[in-house]
Amino acid sequence: MRGRVDAHFAAVGPPAGRLEAPPDKSISHRAALLGAFGDGSTRVSGYLDSADTRSTLSAIEALGAAVEVRPGDRGGALDVGIGGFGIAGAAEPVGAIDVGNAGTLIRLLAGLLAGQEGRGFRLDGDGSIRMRPMARIAEPLREMGAAVETAPGGRPPLAIDGGRLHAIHHEMPVASAQVKSCLLLAGLLAEGRTTVREPAASRDHSERMLRAAGAAVRVERERPSLPGDPVRSTIAVEPAEGIALPPMRVPGDLSSAAFHLAAALLVPGGDVTVAGVGLNPTRIGLLGVLNRMGADIEVVEEGREGGEPVGSVRARHGGLAAARVVAAEVPATIDELPLVGLLGCFAEGTTHVGGAAELRHKESDRIAGAVDAINAIGGDAEPLEDGFAVRGTGGIRGGEIDARGDHRLAMLGAVAGLASREGVTVRDFGCARVSYPGFEGDLRSLLPG
Ligand code: S3P
Repeated sequence: MRGRVDAHFAAVGPPAGRLEAPPDKSISHRAALLGAFGDGSTRVSGYLDSADTRSTLSAIEALGAAVEVRPGDRGGALDVGIGGFGIAGAAEPVGAIDVGNAGTLIRLLAGLLAGQEGRGFRLDGDGSIRMRPMARIAEPLREMGAAVETAPGGRPPLAIDGGRLHAIHHEMPVASAQVKSCLLLAGLLAEGRTTVREPAASRDHSERMLRAAGAAVRVERERPSLPGDPVRSTIAVEPAEGIALPPMRVPGDLSSAAFHLAAALLVPGGDVTVAGVGLNPTRIGLLGVLNRMGADIEVVEEGREGGEPVGSVRARHGGLAAARVVAAEVPATIDELPLVGLLGCFAEGTTHVGGAAELRHKESDRIAGAVDAINAIGGDAEPLEDGFAVRGTGGIRGGEIDARGDHRLAMLGAVAGLASREGVTVRDFGCARVSYPGFEGDLRSLLPG
């Protein structure tokens, strides 16, 4: 574990210019995993170079994949060659697999390991991972026939004894792409058709990539009874003899781009375009929220990469109105909600985020983290059981924010600093490397001087 690194961010003028979004974290994890559990070899270009996605490369290597890493053709990206070991061919590693800080890795990999008959695996990670709920995957995996043990409270480390699996139908109590993906991946090695019903549409990168890799995945969407209600759907996967992920390129990550866009919206004169951003409808809730806030946002869809729509997003400074974020739009906005809170400080009225109790189970408790961060720099935020309310005060003073080991809070602190009157010191800013090691460089490249 590296030491804590602090950083200071202060107003120096408007962020302006154009940059390429760093590669998508969710899609990078999935590409490495499907490549490793695939037959033959594949190449993933534009793979995210970050602590989290490096953990995934180490994990698949430990399980027997051949991994070749070269610098990619854009900043923050790697070109990764993967020689797969096949859907049921994971080797038993020596010792525990270290997932670091990566919730996506531990949950998706658990699904793939559950059906590796006769082999045992231990998955462990950092202090934040050890606080995260795993019963939500352990229970359905046990129901499928795997032996899965957790630490008390249903937390990591996980011990998995791969077994012969059978299909189940699982009703997810909360919309979680990680839980859905875990069970679909386990379903590849289960006897019968595995089905998962989600209470609202969560990101569907796994479904898209599994289909591209030759798996039979079907989605049935239910018609919402009232307009604005969440869209429930049932996803079904058939068992597969094998999968083969074709060579692919990872699109840019809107969740990372969002920080630069927010900086442009908040600092007078700001005008930033982020190019190559993934625009999957299950990920772009933030754009809808920004529209309602009256933000000056321009989205141009330009094509497809890795089976996902991609385009550019331009954000320009202007006045903002408060918005209300409701449960139905939470899954598509989940990782950007703390940033919505920061924007709320500058909006007219009270911005309200509800139906987002899941924020308490992220890399940190992001309801407490966002509220404490906003209040520490002179904003006016109040925690709610399932979200928060932020009263617009026309700006923020500045001060000190503790990122608490949470990469997204670290980057939020940086943006807050640029938009503040007195600057913001971000304690433990270095944890931004979990998803975006080049963040500070990219952000400063947009600033004058
Ligand atoms: C992710 C899904 C979301 C998200 C996380 C990445 C994924 O988590 O918050 O950052 O890659 O599937 P949940 O599935 O727990 O909602």
